Amino acid sequence: MFFRKCFTFIFRNLLEWYSVAAVNHDELGQETLLNLLLRNYLHYNLYEQAEKLRSKAPKILTRSNKQTLRYLFYTGKIQTIRLAYTDAKESFQQAVLRAPVAARGFRIQCSKWAVLAHLLLGEIPEKTIFMQTGMKRALRPYFELTNALRIGDLELFCNVTEMFSGTFISDRTKNVIVRLQHSVIRTGLCNSSISYSLISLAEVADRLKLHSRNLLPDVENIVSKAIHDGAINAKIDHANGWLISKETRDIYATAEPQAAFQL
Ligand SMILES: *[C@@H]1O[C@H](CO)[C@@H](O)[C@H](O)[C@H]1NC(C)=O
Ligand SMILES: *[C@@H]1O[C@H](CO)[C@@H](O)[C@H](O)[C@H]1NC(C)=O
Repeated sequence: MFFRKCFTFIFRNLLEWYSVAAVNHDELGQETLLNLLLRNYLHYNLYEQAEKLRSKAPKILTRSNKQTLRYLFYTGKIQTIRLAYTDAKESFQQAVLRAPVAARGFRIQCSKWAVLAHLLLGEIPEKTIFMQTGMKRALRPYFELTNALRIGDLELFCNVTEMFSGTFISDRTKNVIVRLQHSVIRTGLCNSSISYSLISLAEVADRLKLHSRNLLPDVENIVSKAIHDGAINAKIDHANGWLISKETRDIYATAEPQAAFQL
């Protein structure tokens, strides 16, 4: 109760000051207050409100690089949550580029989010992002995450998220990382379907190690979704529980009995 009151009070005041700054054409004040409001909205996971405010904010000539950087960072986060990953990547990259070298902590945070934006877009970020001076150690959890995605190993992915869960929680990236699970599965699936023209769903589940994550009952759904998304060119034979690749080049690569082709 007390918390709610406090919270409402702070927002009301910030919003009031923000309008006062606008009326007075105090651009630095507007920038600063807009960032404070965005920061508070994000802190309480009020992304819709944050975006409403941000999208309505008048475009002003920025007065302070520091405020611009903050604005880019908050904007990137909002875009990430709203699934606008390309825009988010751009915001975080801009922030990293424009941040002074001395703002190491800020550059680390932006780099972490930039990595996630890449991964959410299905891209593997360039190694150089992890090699930035003085940031290697801090970025390691995100490096490991990238590695698991690159290979498409669900078990490794889950191990990494568990191993570094402290970091992901304090970075407030855990909920975003959860979204990557589909990509890991898809990459793993791509590999399975490319290696074989015919594979049983049970074997797919086995190769993706779905059993270790209690995802076994979902294998058919997971595969269907990947086909629907165009991640793999294949079809499912539901009656027999087969995944049949439509890639023709290694049609005879299967080790399964020829009889299985007579479908
Ligand atoms: C693809 O699958 C093969 C066979 O299991 C495995 O050796 C290889 O590491 C996989 N490649 C990737 C990129 O996951
Ligand atoms: C994941 O962690 C488990 C338990 O620590 C371990 O047995 C397994 O080998 C790990 N798997 C991968 C792919 O790292």
